[in-house]
Amino acid sequence: MKGSMRVAGAMATMAVALSLLGASEAAAQQPTLPAEVQEWLERDQARRWAAMIAEGDSLFNSGSCARCHGQAGSGGRNGPDLADANWVQSDGSLEEIRRTIFWGVRRELFSDPAWRFEMNPGGGLDLAWEQYASLAAYVWSLSNETGLLGR
Ligand code: HEC
Repeated sequence: MKGSMRVAGAMATMAVALSLLGASEAAAQQPTLPAEVQEWLERDQARRWAAMIAEGDSLFNSGSCARCHGQAGSGGRNGPDLADANWVQSDGSLEEIRRTIFWGVRRELFSDPAWRFEMNPGGGLDLAWEQYASLAAYVWSLSNETGLLGR
């Protein structure tokens, strides 16, 4: 009786050890990069993020978007304020903002039927895939901390 309990105990210990081993094996598959490389990549990411916002800014404010949504998305006669963190077409996440920009907003989906014109897919602009992301980054940045200096 005592002996079999010891065996069971040993087996349980082994199972725990094996599962820990599994977890550490999984962690080992994630390469641990040298700190210098890690920092360098993070700086590169911050630079790419800033570049996306800058590109979105110029697309938005020189393109059709600002004509309806106002300069810097401050709201216009033909489009709502995009800087007020009040979202009617989505939850305001980067991904969903991009989806709204990609598909546009058909009249039957308006939150307010008083809007005169539909928003065409891509705001009617002929956009490359990366430009949807840049526009989403810019619109998102109007009502969120970007993590970048000065914003
Ligand atoms: C013809 C006018 C027009 C143009 C051009 C236009 N929009 Fe819109 N946009 C609208 C209208 C109208 C809505 C829907 C408002 C509603 O449902 O109340 C909207 C909604 C949105 C939303 C969703 C807002 C929310 O609260 O969820 C985003 C984001 C957006 N537009 C971004 C853009 C971007 C970026 C561009 C340029 C690529 C653009 N729009 C071009 C009229 C326009």
